Amino acid sequence: MVDLLSVTDLTVGFATENGTARVLDHVSFAMRPGEIMGLVGESGCGKTTLARAILGVLPNNAAIASGSISFAQTDLLGRDTAAIRGRDITFIPQDPFGSFSPLFSVGDQIGELMRWKSPDRAPGDTGYTRTRRRADAARIQAALAAVQLPDIERLLRKYPHELSGGQRQRVMVAMALLPEPKLVIADEPTTALDVTIQAQILKLLRQLATERGASVLFTTHDLGTAWEICDRVTVMYAGQEAETAPVADFFARPRHPYTAALLDSLPTQGAALLGIPGDVPSPFAPPPGCRFHPRCPRATDLCRASHNETAEPAPGHFVRCHHPNEWPIQDGGPAS
Ligand SMILES: Nc1ncnc2c1ncn2[C@@H]1O[C@H](COP(=O)(O)OP(=O)(O)O)[C@@H](O)[C@H]1O
Ligand code: SF4
Ligand SMILES: [Mg+2]
Repeated sequence: MVDLLSVTDLTVGFATENGTARVLDHVSFAMRPGEIMGLVGESGCGKTTLARAILGVLPNNAAIASGSISFAQTDLLGRDTAAIRGRDITFIPQDPFGSFSPLFSVGDQIGELMRWKSPDRAPGDTGYTRTRRRADAARIQAALAAVQLPDIERLLRKYPHELSGGQRQRVMVAMALLPEPKLVIADEPTTALDVTIQAQILKLLRQLATERGASVLFTTHDLGTAWEICDRVTVMYAGQEAETAPVADFFARPRHPYTAALLDSLPTQGAALLGIPGDVPSPFAPPPGCRFHPRCPRATDLCRASHNETAEPAPGHFVRCHHPNEWPIQDGGPAS
């Protein structure tokens, strides 16, 4: 199957007063059409930076030092990809409040989105005909109903501050799906919400994306959330992707020592890596080679000196490690 999104060898740094923060180091991973991919890792490992690089909205002090991002056969780092962003690729941010304007009603803001990003809008069309407006109004009603928001007419007249956090996030999910995108990027979309509402909204996002054939790239620091809603998982450590695998395989047969340590630290989630001596390295002075080597029980001179390449030891299972766990294919059990 042809990949929908593929990120290859992506290296991103931030220029700061203290030097360059080398935040993404040769990151590679790919997504297939229709899949829900979890991008998992501790706070600071580079999830948001990766999401922003794909969306083309890196901060001004960021520089892409190497790599490529391709989406549906288009080079996203090339010129003139604005039409893709916001329509073929949409975004659900962590804080839905910050992405609404306080000055306009919810209805005005969804209307403005559809004026420019409606699936009916032809490229270059600056007008807004009554026919298109009417079709879009019907789409908006259907999308808000699909995210299970009641009393839609009243909701459309409200201002963002009059909505609860859960309602705002449901509106964001509707807005992300309205342009009929191929990919929705959701950056820790529910961390501001209480756990029950989080779970409801994530399941809804998964269900609606699947019904509409959209892929979702979903960042989270919580492995349990990834387990519940994702088809595949990519785990990052300190700006390098460690492992990408189908979710069942990932939890049953982790190959990267970091992933194995993460899983061992469950169910004390949030206290991940408690059992591993050492700290996450600073992006200003990352260790050479594999960035996990100062903490890895299996590290060798090779790990300390050489770039760790991404390999695919089993179909769809990628690992970036010189000495990964081996799992025999026949019985699914450990190699030793
Ligand atoms: N604009 C910026 N300038 C300098 N450093 C940044 C900037 N944005 C993020 N960083 C740093 O990049 C690293 C990764 O951040 P981020 O991508 O937000 O991680 P995550 O989303 O996984 O928590 C962190 O060390 C963070 O401090
Ligand atoms: S490359 Fe080496 S240091 Fe890094 S995780 Fe693998 S064994 Fe450990
Ligand atoms: Mg983040």
